[in-house]
Amino acid sequence: MEQALQISLLKTLLHRLEHGENHDAGCQVVNPATVYTAPDLAQREWQTFFLDHPQIIGLSGDLPAPGHYLALEDFGVPILAVRDESGRFRAFVNACRHRGSQLVPPGRGTATRFVCPFHGWMYRATGELAGITEPAQFGAIDRTCLGLVELPAAEHCGLLFVHPQPGAALEVSSLLGGLEAELASWDLGRQRFTGQNEVKTRMNWKLANDTFGETYHFKRLHRDTVDHIAEGDVATYHIFGRNHRFVFPTKAMAKLRTKPEARWRIGGSTTVLYYLFPNIQLAVTDRQITLFRIYPEGADPTRSATQISHYFTEEALAGLAAGNKTIIDHRNIYDPAARDGNAILSFEGLMEIINSTLEQQDYRMAEATQRTAASGRIPEFIFGRNEAPLHHFHNTFRAALDLPPLRQR
Ligand code: FES
Ligand SMILES: [Fe+2]
Repeated sequence: MEQALQISLLKTLLHRLEHGENHDAGCQVVNPATVYTAPDLAQREWQTFFLDHPQIIGLSGDLPAPGHYLALEDFGVPILAVRDESGRFRAFVNACRHRGSQLVPPGRGTATRFVCPFHGWMYRATGELAGITEPAQFGAIDRTCLGLVELPAAEHCGLLFVHPQPGAALEVSSLLGGLEAELASWDLGRQRFTGQNEVKTRMNWKLANDTFGETYHFKRLHRDTVDHIAEGDVATYHIFGRNHRFVFPTKAMAKLRTKPEARWRIGGSTTVLYYLFPNIQLAVTDRQITLFRIYPEGADPTRSATQISHYFTEEALAGLAAGNKTIIDHRNIYDPAARDGNAILSFEGLMEIINSTLEQQDYRMAEATQRTAASGRIPEFIFGRNEAPLHHFHNTFRAALDLPPLRQR
């Protein structure tokens, strides 16, 4: 992000912090509870946003060098993503052309050849069928026509995009809706993958998204966790087409006032949270990035899974390895006293936030909301003026499905 923009956003946040102000959506809106429960809507979402929409499956660091692969099965089409020998990112349907067996189980690793576990057909990372078992017995085949089914794939701004429909257009710039240069400036491609986890939930995928759409709940729901380290009720918010940028400060942000502006870094004193339509939340700081990919379980409106991948900068990893700084881990993550200017967040600290805040608090609360919606006794929920990301997220997916915008109240 350009330094001038960083300073401008930080000044806005400092002003709002000082005056008890927040971003104001200008109105409240009403969200029908049925958006979380209706099977017909869930079916349309699954088709429109997942089976037939480009997907961000990771960052460049998920495939750090030629020979690396990533197999996943989150949005209806089993995907085998690879970095081939020339370094090119490619994606295939993860299925053998003989009788459709899964070629590689979900996960990641390195391979120069993919051998089908059923009868042993072998494929190159370019997707070509390299050879089959017992060719004389099997009979003649044209290997050139029986490579893996390739999917449109693009690596852009350090993000890995796949379209699950073979031959579909993949217009990455238009998907990023004006955020392209800003995302490129974060050097996402240089981040090293450090680990991942999956959270399965009994709630609609949009409720999982909703937990990322306001900090109004920090002082209450997160009073024992993230409220110790981040400021609730203070944010900046900007829309970029179907996407948005939502920035909220750490507790340490006020210390910026003692530093010259030239040394202000937004990624050192806030969390910059990008929402990328339809299901991505990307949390960026100077030292690490967390990618949240949120999926419905097919067309079931009551089940979802969040795939969470963590990436650290080389500098952060070197700092952790050097051992001469205070390490923030699972034991002291919510202790602000441990966060002197020299402290450095570890993977264990990050996982503790995911577990104690997102899984145990946000998602538990959202699962209860799912049950409320299912009961039909509370027909509508309200999004306040201080919950602008929720207005935008819901109105965006509604517009994409030709539904009217949320009613103002
Ligand atoms: S299904 Fe793959 S070799 Fe038979
Ligand atoms: Fe939360």
